Amino acid sequence: VFQNSCQCQSLFHTVMIVFLLETFTVLGSDQPIIAVVGEVVVLPCQLSPRMSAVNKTIRWFRDQINSPVYLYKNRFHITDKQDQAYRGRTTLFIEELGIGNVSLGMRNVRVSDEGIYGCFVESLIWYEETTIEVIVTGTGSDPLIYPDDYEGKRIQLGCKSSGWYPKPEVTWTDGKSQKLTSVSETIETEDDGLFSVNSYVITGDSSHKPTCRIQNNFMKETRESSLQISELYFSCVSPWLVAFFVLLGLVPVAICIAIYCWRKQKIWLKKKKIKKGKTSGK
Ligand SMILES: *[C@@H]1O[C@H](CO)[C@@H](O)[C@H](O)[C@H]1NC(C)=O
Ligand SMILES: *[C@@H]1O[C@H](CO)[C@@H](O)[C@H](O)[C@H]1NC(C)=O
Repeated sequence: VFQNSCQCQSLFHTVMIVFLLETFTVLGSDQPIIAVVGEVVVLPCQLSPRMSAVNKTIRWFRDQINSPVYLYKNRFHITDKQDQAYRGRTTLFIEELGIGNVSLGMRNVRVSDEGIYGCFVESLIWYEETTIEVIVTGTGSDPLIYPDDYEGKRIQLGCKSSGWYPKPEVTWTDGKSQKLTSVSETIETEDDGLFSVNSYVITGDSSHKPTCRIQNNFMKETRESSLQISELYFSCVSPWLVAFFVLLGLVPVAICIAIYCWRKQKIWLKKKKIKKGKTSGK
């Protein structure tokens, strides 16, 4: 009886040691991970203490545990149940598994990737999981400033840009330090979840150089463009140029230039209207 209990005890010790060797925690990140639209991001997840994860099950998931973002099991990368949205975009770092680095690599980040991710690791006798928050951000295109409408000597300028996330902030200045107040502003969500912005100001001051600045407040990244008003009025028909041709007796040439410029502007405004019609019909 004595001998039996002794054997039992050593077996118990062995089991305890194996158990302790096989237990682990998984470390993610307390801070949210910032992912930039269109780029690559790594969601950190590491076994502690460091041990091989080669023979463990690694499951990255969001809300649906049954359609994982990534699943690795029995040394296979299992893709048939993988969430459609992540197929071909996610990967584990195979060479890192041996040191317990089960981080997830994700490329071509989308707005819909924002959210909470679970990293779940399971061995025969143990499992652990942690969560990682992903915040998506995107800085859009350089703004385009264009004349939207003329009202006598005043001109309404539009500024548009797309590809922003989260919602950007638009500010107009006169090219110096003075702010211009926008008369209207629309922010729309595009199919890919990114925001496009349209903002309008009215100005009559040809010395102005209206500047449209769009900022991603989260990343503090800005894009800006400006336009010299005088260019809009005088770039084509300079009164001096007309006077010059008139003086030379080249009245027909001056008229041709004037007609050309007038038509160009008209066509331009027409195009603009067609575009407007399209968007309102949508
Ligand atoms: C994983 O399992 C295989 C087969 O059972 C074994 O040969 C290998 O040594 C194991 N690797 C690790 C790192 O435990
Ligand atoms: C895990 O591997 C990835 C990809 O190589 C790397 O970016 C990350 O820093 C590694 N994590 C740790 C904790 O070593």
